[in-house]
Amino acid sequence: MAETLAIKADFERFDEWTEAFRPGNLELVHWDDLKAGQPLDYALVWYPEPGALHRHPGLKIIFSVGAGLDHLVGENILPPGIPVVRMVETALTLGMAEYVVYHVLRHHRFMPQYEQFQRDRAWEEILQIPANQRTVGILGMGVLGTACAQALMPFGFSIIGWSRTEKRLEGVEHYHGADQLDRMISRCDYLVCLLPYTRATRHILRREHLRHLPEGAVLINVGRGGLQVEDDLIEMLDSGHLGAAVLDVFEKEPLPPDNPLWSHPRVTITPHVASMTLPETSARHVLANIERCRAGLPLTHVADMARGY
Ligand code: NAP
Ligand code: GLV
Repeated sequence: MAETLAIKADFERFDEWTEAFRPGNLELVHWDDLKAGQPLDYALVWYPEPGALHRHPGLKIIFSVGAGLDHLVGENILPPGIPVVRMVETALTLGMAEYVVYHVLRHHRFMPQYEQFQRDRAWEEILQIPANQRTVGILGMGVLGTACAQALMPFGFSIIGWSRTEKRLEGVEHYHGADQLDRMISRCDYLVCLLPYTRATRHILRREHLRHLPEGAVLINVGRGGLQVEDDLIEMLDSGHLGAAVLDVFEKEPLPPDNPLWSHPRVTITPHVASMTLPETSARHVLANIERCRAGLPLTHVADMARGY
């Protein structure tokens, strides 16, 4: 009998998922069609309700639809002892590299200013700064941060990274640990945040640390909204210390219409779309792990839920 995989995603793509999982010899079930107590082998989920995963005996692996795991944190969300596998897949990685490269280059080439000049019919030049005189700092040098660093390298930027543990990556100067954060931040003309949202990283993008940025630096937060303190960002944008902010994620999503960030002249807002999980490529990652499970091999990209990522 085929093993069962239930999918709970917040988008209507069940047909695409079904097609993508065809090679897996699995019975696919839409989460809403599950019967009470129905046994499950695998679950691919995004924001499961408390208790939902406990109602189905036999679960061998819980797959997260996203790279971030904050949607799996909370009372009674995860049944104990079942491995949680993070989403690591090519479309998600490439999408993030595209987004970050695009926004770094957009600011590096003064496009927001030139767009304003065009609206004003003003023929004005801004002196170009060579990329090798600018530093891009990446907070979170995991799968996505590393991909962004590698995608930015050919332009010649100096690239520095920060993570919890020490790392070596050719072409990247590396900082790690809380003690080195402000020193790293003080060098960044562009600060990209690709940290997971955990107890240790909550509100890390606050005045206390961001005040170390050079005057006029650009912040790009594509991690999670809970990493930033919105009032601090607004204050630092208003004072000019922050030159601009590109924000894809917010503490409250959707961002409420009356939030002042919407109309701030130096803020670019996107609705949590920096990168998206695509069924075709993510099914390959899920199926590869199901194959490993069937063969008794260790799974890949297993999350440490005590650490939060
Ligand atoms: P990952 O591979 O787990 O990398 C996380 C990185 O953050 C690691 O380098 C880790 O350090 C570092 N880190 C974690 N806690 C830290 C701390 N307390 N201090 C310093 N560094 C810390 O994750 P990923 O796949 O790159 O994804 C990163 C995040 O991107 C996700 O959690 C999600 O929130 C976000 N995301 C956003 C979108 C979007 O569309 N906006 C899409 C996908 C993902 P170590 O390497 O030392 O462990
Ligand atoms: C999206 O935000 C993800 O975590 O993959």
